[in-house]
Amino acid sequence: MVKAVNVAVIGTGVVGSAFLNQLRALKSQITYNVILIARVTNSVISADYSPIDLTNWKELTDESAQKNLSMDELVDFLKKSPLPTILVDNTSDATIASSYTKFVSNGISIATPNKKAFSSDLKSWNELFQASENNGGLVYHEATVGAGLPIIGTVNDLVITGDKVEKIEGIFSGTLSYIFNEYSSPETKDVNFSDIVSVAKSLGYTEPDPRDDLNGLDVARKVTILARLSGALVESPTSFPVQSLIPKDLESVQSAAEFMEKLPNYDNEIQKLKDEAAAENKVLRFVGKVDMQKNEVSVGIEKYDYSHPFASLKGSDNVISIKTERYQNPLIVQGAGAGAEVTAAGVLADAIKIAQRIAK
Ligand SMILES: NC(=O)c1ccc[n+]([C@@H]2O[C@H](COP(=O)([O-])OP(=O)(O)OC[C@H]3O[C@@H](n4cnc5c(N)ncnc54)[C@H](OP(=O)(O)O)[C@@H]3O)[C@@H](O)[C@H]2O)c1
Repeated sequence: MVKAVNVAVIGTGVVGSAFLNQLRALKSQITYNVILIARVTNSVISADYSPIDLTNWKELTDESAQKNLSMDELVDFLKKSPLPTILVDNTSDATIASSYTKFVSNGISIATPNKKAFSSDLKSWNELFQASENNGGLVYHEATVGAGLPIIGTVNDLVITGDKVEKIEGIFSGTLSYIFNEYSSPETKDVNFSDIVSVAKSLGYTEPDPRDDLNGLDVARKVTILARLSGALVESPTSFPVQSLIPKDLESVQSAAEFMEKLPNYDNEIQKLKDEAAAENKVLRFVGKVDMQKNEVSVGIEKYDYSHPFASLKGSDNVISIKTERYQNPLIVQGAGAGAEVTAAGVLADAIKIAQRIAK
């Protein structure tokens, strides 16, 4: 007998679109019936749970006049689904994330690249995973750190098999990876920090306001997730030291344009650090660290020898080094840490893992 699951997809942006296209092309023993596609303005909802035709999901979504369900209505709709159901949240919405426990308590599983539910307060994290353990839905979130790179699954596998994480250290932001790889490399380059930020912005690598990358909060959220998976009771992404790359005086300037205009005035501060590092044959990198032995979590600029794997990073790649009791020589995962196809593949792989466990 053919096994099947129902799938509800929220978000049809960069990742959501690629996810739906990959799902449409999937060749599988399990049937995936998409029964809802939602975005901010409207939804396509199959009220009788029959599968939505994915060949023209975009047109169907563009043309649909159906209003979105509230979170409670959505829980109710998915709870009554005749097949086991997976909610795929391809948004960065905090309200949807804060409803995960309700979904999971009602037997609905979740696959998501949305970091919000996993990097807010520790109580919410505990409640979510407790609900899952109490015969609730399954929760998979590989793409919340390093997009499609096998990081969360790897750390989870190490921990559940009895290994102990000693230290995790990594470059988790594609944007800051690009900026520091270009700014500070073993081949000395005579470039200003503000010029590199400007190039990164013009290439579309930064958020519309680069301060949203430079404040370090996105990295702090990812580090919070890895620290908790490793067993550290991290209260929130603001409960440990996070170095912001935004000069104090520019934190409150009104527009991104004004920020970019004034940033060159502060090039000297970071140039000094870069010169000091170069004098020691080192480069600067913006890293997140979880040191389980010292019970310390931090995010900020660090110096690395030219021979260190972090020093030879290229483009906007992520890299993560995991040192455990068993892997004294750290295990290294490296590759693209952002992008539609790799991120969507990370989410789809999670949905497939869930389906393999729950499909009927
Ligand atoms: N892009 C990447 O490379 C990457 C890498 C790793 C992780 N992620 C994570 O993946 C998630 C999606 O990123 P993205 O780049 O695809 O974002 P995006 O292009 O901005 O797309 C977000 C989608 O979510 C929809 N949405 C937002 N709030 C909603 C709500 N309350 N109800 C229904 N739909 C809602 C938006 O609807 P509209 O279309 O109507 O605006 C849009 O379709 C984020 O959590 C992000 O952090 C992305």
